[in-house]
Amino acid sequence: MGYGQACESSFCSANVSGAAWARLASGRIEWHWQPMSDGNHMGATTRRVPLNDLVRQNRQLQAELVAGARDVIERGWFVLGSQCDAFEREFAAYCGSAHCIGAANGTDAIELALRAAGISPGDRVATVANAGYYSSTAIHAIGAVPVYVDVATETYLISIPSLQQALAKHPVRAVVVTHLYGGLADIEAIVAICKPLGVPVIEDCAQAHGASRGGRKAGSFGAAGCFSFYPTKNLGALGDGGAVTTDDVNLATRLRELRQYGWDSKYRVGRAGGSNSRLDEMQAAFLRIKLPHLDRWNEERRSLARRYAREIKNPRVRCRSDFASDHIAHLFVVRCEERESFRRHLNSQGVDSDIHYPIPDHLQPGNAWASSAGTLPETERLAAEITSIPCFAELEEDEIRRVIDAVNSWQ
Ligand SMILES: Cc1ncc(COP(=O)(O)O)c(C=O)c1O
Repeated sequence: MGYGQACESSFCSANVSGAAWARLASGRIEWHWQPMSDGNHMGATTRRVPLNDLVRQNRQLQAELVAGARDVIERGWFVLGSQCDAFEREFAAYCGSAHCIGAANGTDAIELALRAAGISPGDRVATVANAGYYSSTAIHAIGAVPVYVDVATETYLISIPSLQQALAKHPVRAVVVTHLYGGLADIEAIVAICKPLGVPVIEDCAQAHGASRGGRKAGSFGAAGCFSFYPTKNLGALGDGGAVTTDDVNLATRLRELRQYGWDSKYRVGRAGGSNSRLDEMQAAFLRIKLPHLDRWNEERRSLARRYAREIKNPRVRCRSDFASDHIAHLFVVRCEERESFRRHLNSQGVDSDIHYPIPDHLQPGNAWASSAGTLPETERLAAEITSIPCFAELEEDEIRRVIDAVNSWQ
């Protein structure tokens, strides 16, 4: 995958003054931070505020998760079994889609959806360049060609005028719309533009599980919705996992074949372009335990995001202020110039931060044919100015206060 959970959740520097590893009485080792003033220790040891902490959520559900794992082990069926079937049914119902097809991860889900929609080598696929190279990876895996579209200044999501320009300029065969940071793109308008052109819209919902508008959820607007259940997601497994939702029974059949070697029956490859990308039973069991909590977790994140938006008053720091049901606050992203100074300040206050994402897809050095800088002005400006600050359901009151104080005290 090329990155680890720690990379997504930590900006921790080993050189932070006053910081120290501490072994707790429980035997667990934790990173502590001691604020310093004028070179003197201020006394009380204060824990850093992490960008995310998966232990807190999983600890609340520990008994159920252990029972779920034991159940899978005792039944001895580990891949594409009853847990996966049940999760697919439950997640399809949650999303309001007719079908859900489990996959090994979110990147595969996008690739499978594009293949099932008939995308083949050389086809052009429109997508954004500010979303971590995931859709680019899926497009390249097919041998298709990404056509990058700029994002809107206020939402950081795909810009409709830029998409229209791309559609007018190139014969685009599909559009991947990323609902980034938890925010639903203007998906109804995008579907309305693409439908008459016969261009399928694939939603990347990896950061938007449960985001809804007009009673419809992410993943139910386009031809297919692609989900990642990477552990840090709002609905996260205890390992990798993914899924595709769709209302189209033929697309669902193709997806089921493509995720398993192209088999249309056991050991018979009836469809070209298949791979091995299955959701395993253990992860499906964990996801079934977590799914009933998703709406509450989303609401807790949203209310934290609203509070940040209300209480962050530093005029140098900008953030979104609208967190309705169409935003599940997967990440809370603020924007400022002189970002390195800002992050150094947060770090000195014991607050972790990260950048999602620092290098736009079209400027990635591994992209042999990468186009030159300047072609996606808003995407490039954002990449230089954004910072993600701690935002997860289990963040405690004193931690929230410290994040707000740290942001507001940056000068
Ligand atoms: C927006 C987006 N799309 C796709 C993916 C890919 O998911 P995965 O890591 O499960 O392959 C991720 C997350 O990692 C993501 O955040």
